[in-house]
Amino acid sequence: MANKEELKQLLRELNKQGGSALVKERAAKFLKDVDAKTLSLAEQELMEEGVSQEHLRSLCEVHLEVLGEALEQSKPETEKEHPVSILMDEHEIILQNLAELREIVGQVEAAEGFGDIPNQLERLKAITHLLLETESHHQREEEALFPRLERHGVTGPPQMMRLEHEELRAKKRRLAELTEQAKSMNYEEFSTELSQVGSYIASNLRDHIFKEDNILYPTALQTLSAEEWSEVSKEFDRIGYCCFTPQVSRQ
Ligand SMILES: [Fe+2]
Ligand SMILES: [Fe+2]
Repeated sequence: MANKEELKQLLRELNKQGGSALVKERAAKFLKDVDAKTLSLAEQELMEEGVSQEHLRSLCEVHLEVLGEALEQSKPETEKEHPVSILMDEHEIILQNLAELREIVGQVEAAEGFGDIPNQLERLKAITHLLLETESHHQREEEALFPRLERHGVTGPPQMMRLEHEELRAKKRRLAELTEQAKSMNYEEFSTELSQVGSYIASNLRDHIFKEDNILYPTALQTLSAEEWSEVSKEFDRIGYCCFTPQVSRQ
């Protein structure tokens, strides 16, 4: 098991040098042996030492890049009715829609007027609707999952995820307005703003999902007891699901 102090030192170096090839290579080797919870706690302690959240976020990105495939393989496996499975199934559907959003942004950029993109506008409305529905997903994370992690002293990752939810919320609202008002706008203005807002959501929400699937959820699985998970399930039921949540049957 990798040592947390060593890990913090490596993260500091990654931070300072913006990830030079040599440090990245060392990090890649080292990080393969790190479990999610050690990583979460190391990042949290750096934050407590005064590394700003913004800074830590760019640091996260460097090391997500470094971790790449190693992390993909460590995705947790849980029973299909487990809260983590439900959240991860929802992520899959959100990711498919984000890929489509990115495609539409490209088509809107290439087109010359609204006459060229009738189908894209329709699809954009459907994707926007789905993205607004993800509020219940974020709410379940914020109300049922994060406070329990925080009670166990894991405070850094939930804090960062909350901040990202906030930022994404504002962008999703702007996307909804843009989609609603599209035809009353000048095409170039519409296309430029859609390209900014759409690309932001497509890449930031994708990265957010990656961090949850690979760091936050595995940390939660290492931390919460079976009893706490059953409380999480009950709270999930109380808060409710997204219109696209795959059907779950719970006894
Ligand atoms: Fe989230
Ligand atoms: Fe999520």
